[in-house]
Amino acid sequence: MTKLMLRALGGETLDTPPIWMMRQAGRYLPEYRATRARAGDFLSLCYNPELAAEVTLQPIRRFGFDAAILFADILLVPQALGADLWFVTGEGPRLSTISGARDMARLKPADDIDDRLSPVYQTLRLLSEELPRDTTLIGFAGAPWTVATYMVAGRGTKDQGPAHQLKDQDRATFVALIDLITEATIHYLSRQIEAGADVVKLFDSWAGSLKGRDFDDFAVEPARRIIQELKHRHPSVPIIAFPREAGQRYVGFAHATGADCVALDNSVSAEWAAANVQVDGCVQGNLDPRHMVTGGPDLVAEAQRITRSLRNGPHIFNLGHGITPDADPDNVARMIDAVRTA
Ligand code: CP3
Repeated sequence: MTKLMLRALGGETLDTPPIWMMRQAGRYLPEYRATRARAGDFLSLCYNPELAAEVTLQPIRRFGFDAAILFADILLVPQALGADLWFVTGEGPRLSTISGARDMARLKPADDIDDRLSPVYQTLRLLSEELPRDTTLIGFAGAPWTVATYMVAGRGTKDQGPAHQLKDQDRATFVALIDLITEATIHYLSRQIEAGADVVKLFDSWAGSLKGRDFDDFAVEPARRIIQELKHRHPSVPIIAFPREAGQRYVGFAHATGADCVALDNSVSAEWAAANVQVDGCVQGNLDPRHMVTGGPDLVAEAQRITRSLRNGPHIFNLGHGITPDADPDNVARMIDAVRTA
């Protein structure tokens, strides 16, 4: 019996799509908040294999999703490369910044990250033992551009201005940073697969701020390099790419990068995606996460419209971005029911 999600990723058109949610282990769940309190803080939770596996399993037990996503963060890779990282409650991540060659020289080589990241691999090993047999285990990393935006600015930014500035004013440093993250990501995802991940996903949350040639050079090309090398090492492991807010650039993205599936944000319509993106293979998405807060008949109608629009090709049902802390867990159960009865 092949896992439902792996069938969709292999290109099968299914009667009912597999379902999971970005940030499905998170602050909207009381059991997550309790475990996070036991760990002390968010990063201690990420680096504690027993507790990280526990929070990964919580939404599977509660909702019976078809996939579990490793509990970790895209910013663990910069930390493993030598950046300082901490989280400010209510604000988000803070990192030491990269502004030139001198900062780059302080970072570690791409393959010297396992000491720091070995607890993540251990989390995956625990999960591959503990998950129900039909639940797919997803590993992940941030895509180089998105990770670079945090490493350059030292925090989240609205327009990724500091990273654009480095790209335009000190190209050599910027390209060296993208190359380092690309190599580290290949190493990291390869280790995740060896530890038990069935699928890996590349999160390029800020891909939408790259335009024209920059999109080709810093969203498409690093993803293509990562996917090509992972396919060489692990030919049977599917890869999902999420170039968030790529808009028209979603068209042909799977083909250009070798991704088995493209994840869609909620700024594109499912009907458009069926005609323009799903023609190349599996797509994942794309319910607006706000419905998980507001619920009601709109939630059911939208979940069913997306399911029906993408029903003539391979589809994995998901949100267009992460579920937010103010979401109502009962709406998650309603969404799953709506998709399975569409
Ligand atoms: O999806 C999952 O359930 C798996 C775990 C996961 C987390 N972060 C846990 C997390 C994944 C896949 C991520 C990816 C991630 N992290 C991205 C890419 C996806 C996206 O959301 O666009 C980015 C940009 C980050 C960086 C990051 N981590 C930020 C900007 C923040 C602060 C914003 C926030 O939501 O608080 C985080 C913190 C974070 N990562 C939380 C979780 C559950 C909240 C931490 C807490 O418990 O306080």
